[in-house]
Amino acid sequence: MYRTHTCGELRIGDKQKQVTLAGWVQTVRKFGSITFVDIRDRYGITQLLFNESLTAQLDTNPLGREFVITASGNVNERSNKNGNIPTGEIEILVDSFKVLNKSITPPFSIQDDTDGGDELRMKYRFLDLRRNAVKKNLELRYLVNRSARAYLHEQNFMDIETPFLIKSTPEGARDFVVPSRMNEGQFYALPQSPQTFKQLLMVSGYDRYYQIVKCFRDEDLRADRQPEFTQIDCEMSFVEQEDILDMFEGLIKRIFSDVKNISITEKVERMTWEDAMWNFGNDKPDIRFDMKITNIKSAFRRGGELHANGDLIAGTEFKVFNDAETVVSIAAPGCSEYTRKQTDELTDWIKRPQIGMNGLVYIKCNADGSFKSSVDKFFDEEKLRKIASGCNAKPGDLILILAGKEEKTRKAISELRLEIGKRLGFRKDDEFKLLWVMDFPLFEYAEEDNRWVARHHPFTSPKPDHIQVMIDNNPVIENAAAYLQHPYSEIKANAYDMVLNGNEIGGGSIRIFQRDLQEKMFAALGMDQEEAMHKFGFLLGAFEYGAPPHGGIAFGFDRLCAILGGSESIRDFIAFPKNNSGRDVMLDAPSTIDAKQMKELGLK
Ligand code: AMO
Repeated sequence: MYRTHTCGELRIGDKQKQVTLAGWVQTVRKFGSITFVDIRDRYGITQLLFNESLTAQLDTNPLGREFVITASGNVNERSNKNGNIPTGEIEILVDSFKVLNKSITPPFSIQDDTDGGDELRMKYRFLDLRRNAVKKNLELRYLVNRSARAYLHEQNFMDIETPFLIKSTPEGARDFVVPSRMNEGQFYALPQSPQTFKQLLMVSGYDRYYQIVKCFRDEDLRADRQPEFTQIDCEMSFVEQEDILDMFEGLIKRIFSDVKNISITEKVERMTWEDAMWNFGNDKPDIRFDMKITNIKSAFRRGGELHANGDLIAGTEFKVFNDAETVVSIAAPGCSEYTRKQTDELTDWIKRPQIGMNGLVYIKCNADGSFKSSVDKFFDEEKLRKIASGCNAKPGDLILILAGKEEKTRKAISELRLEIGKRLGFRKDDEFKLLWVMDFPLFEYAEEDNRWVARHHPFTSPKPDHIQVMIDNNPVIENAAAYLQHPYSEIKANAYDMVLNGNEIGGGSIRIFQRDLQEKMFAALGMDQEEAMHKFGFLLGAFEYGAPPHGGIAFGFDRLCAILGGSESIRDFIAFPKNNSGRDVMLDAPSTIDAKQMKELGLK
C-alpha cells in the first residue's frame, strides 16, 4: 500500500496512529543526527521526522527536491508547532521509507513565491501545476464547473456533445482549419462555438441544451483571450428574452453562492447598449464605481438622435475642441492636487500607442472653489466653472478631457476612466458587480468591405418591432459617410451580454427561427442566395421543418473563473494554456509536419 492518508489529512486527533504517506519531497533539513523532510501532495504538506536509526540510510541515498517517496511511521505531536498549515501540530516519526522515483533538480522552486519566470513555468507546466497557487485556480475552475452542471441539471438541461470537425463559415473571427486525408484538398474547420448545432438541437426538440465545451478562434490574443477556450453553452426553446435572463441570472447567482459563498438576492442591473456607450464609453462598463463620462460634444447617435451638444464650450476659441468630432470628460474625485509630474504622466499614458490620443486637457477644481487648467489661455474662470458644473465636478476633483474622432475618443476616455478607477482603488478584486447590457445594434458597419456585419452573429433576431425596418429597407449603403443615417444602423437586436466587473463574461440572443427572415439576414450581410445555401443550407433547410422559437447564451468559462479568482489573465485558470503568440511552449506546438504526413493530406 502506497499510502493510508494524504499529506493534508492528519491532525492532532490522529496521534499514535501508524500511517503511510506518499508524495513529493518539498524540503530536506538536516539537524545533526535527525532530518526533517516536508512531503507534499495535492492535499497538503506533512512533516516527516527521520531519526538516527535512518540517518545512515539517508546518507547513502540522500533525498532531493521533488523525489517521490513513501514513508511509514507513527503520528507524533510536534514540539515546535506550525500554525500556518493544517497539519502543523503533528509530524510522522518515520520507521521505514522508500524512494519510488528520483527527480532531477527542478528548473524553478515549487512553492507559492516561485523564482520561475512566465515562459519557464509554461515550458514546465507540469511542475508549475504542482504549485499551490496554480492548483487553487484549477480547484476553483472545477468548483464552477460542478456548480454550473448541478444548476443546469436541476433545471432540466441536457448535456449533448456536438462535433469538433465542422464546416468553415468564418464570420467574425478566423477559423482554425483541419485538412481531410480522405477528402483530398478539402478542410474541416474547428467550431468557433456550437452555435448552429445548438439551434439544430432546438429544431430536434431538445428544448434545454447545455455543454461545457471547447471553442476555437484564430484571433489576436490578449489576457482574456485564448485560441482555444471554454464556454458554458446553453440554448432553450419556447422562451422570450425575459425567460433567458431569468434562467441565467439564476445560474450565475448559484455559481457565486457555491464557489464564493456570496449570496446575490437582488435582480441583476440592466443597461441599454446606448446608455453604456454614452455614460461609460464602453459596452461592458465596470459599474463598481460611478465616474460617468460627460459628453461635452459628441457625434454619438443616441435614441436615434445625433448628439452634438457643444454648449459647454460654446463661444470659446479653442481649436482642438472646436474641430473635434467628440469632446468627452471624466471627473476624477479628489485628484485636484495632482502635481505637474502626475498630469504629465497621465498625458503620456493616453499617448501610448495602445490608446493613441494626441493630448489630454485637465481642469483642477481646487478645494477653495477656484480653477486651474491646462487651457487657461482659452478658458476664463467663468467658462471653466461652466464646464465643471456640466461635468458634475466637485471642489477637489480633477477633470480630464479628451477630444478627437468619435470612436477612438470614446474608447480612450473609457480606458482612462478604468485606469483612474484602478489607481483610486475603486476596482477591488473582492467586489463583484453584475450587469446585463442589452439592446445592442443588430448590425455594425464594416468600413473595409463597405457592408453590414452582424454585431453578435447572423442568427440573432432583431427586436420584434424592428423586423419590418429590416424587411422594408435595402441594405446597400450609398457611401461610407452615410451609414449612420441608414435605417439599418437603428435596428436593435434581441441580444444581451452579461458583464462582470467590466468584463464580458457571456453573451447571447433570441434567434431568428423562420427561413425567410434568416435569408433576409444573410442578404443584409452581403451574402447572395448561393453563398447562403453553400454555408448555411443545413440550417435554412431545418427551419422548414418546424423550428420552435428559441434563444440562448454562452458564458466564457475561463473568464468567469479568472474574475472569480481575482486574476486578469485567463491563462492562470487553464491547465495547459497557450502563450501570447498562440504557442504551447511545453509541446512546442504548432510545429511542422513531415513530408509523408503532408503527402497523405494532399498538402504542398
Ligand atoms: P460569444 O462570441 O459572445 O458568443 O462568446 C461567448 C463568451 O465566450 C467568451 N469568449 C472568449 N473567452 C476566451 N477566449 C476567447 N477567445 C473568447 N471569445 C469569447 C466571452 C464571451 O462572452 N454562440 C454565441 C453565444 C450565443 O449566442 O448563444 C457565442 O459564441 O466571455
